[in-house]
Amino acid sequence: MTTKFASLIDSYLQSSIGVVENFLPPTLALALKKELLVHSLDGQMKAASIGHGQEKQQNIAIRNDSIYWMDSSHNAPAEIQFLQIMHELLEYLNQTCFTGLTSSEFHFALYEAGSFYKTHRDQFQKTQQRQYTFICYLNEAWETGDGGELCVHHENNRQLISPLMGRVVFFKSCELWHEVMLTLKPRMSITGWFRID
Ligand code: OGA
Ligand code: MN
Repeated sequence: MTTKFASLIDSYLQSSIGVVENFLPPTLALALKKELLVHSLDGQMKAASIGHGQEKQQNIAIRNDSIYWMDSSHNAPAEIQFLQIMHELLEYLNQTCFTGLTSSEFHFALYEAGSFYKTHRDQFQKTQQRQYTFICYLNEAWETGDGGELCVHHENNRQLISPLMGRVVFFKSCELWHEVMLTLKPRMSITGWFRID
């Protein structure tokens, strides 16, 4: 995986948002998508919230996706393999970039047709643990017109990124303003953060 890790970091250093295609082995990406669909059918995906601690609240005017937190204690092979790769990425970041990261957290996300996440940054106002955002998309076909792009608000322009299977994005959580555009199709992904606790 180290070649993929290096590509992601190179891309991030060049343009403040790293983008790499086919980051995960294709069989793993497919297995993760299947696990997400099973969680959805089993009713395990829960409405996502915004804010942190006492300010935590659901606000469907800001975001209306549903999420399921990953945990290596879940008896789910793809989830365990994914978290292992994320653990390796954390160590790689610490060794090559002296990031001093101490933990990570990831959830599956499902945006049903009609869902979005308005412009925000990923660091909470009162806590700064989230350092880097990592998102992996799990949608096999995505056409212009399906909506659901990640829209990154740079100082002078907007960058639209389609949520295509295997594509990964990586950016500094406190820096980038971004949003998920209204999706017209179900949109699946894994989102997570590398943290300093
Ligand atoms: C988030 C987020 C973007 C995406 O979950 O905080 O901004 O493209 N997700 O899924
Ligand atoms: Mn975000």
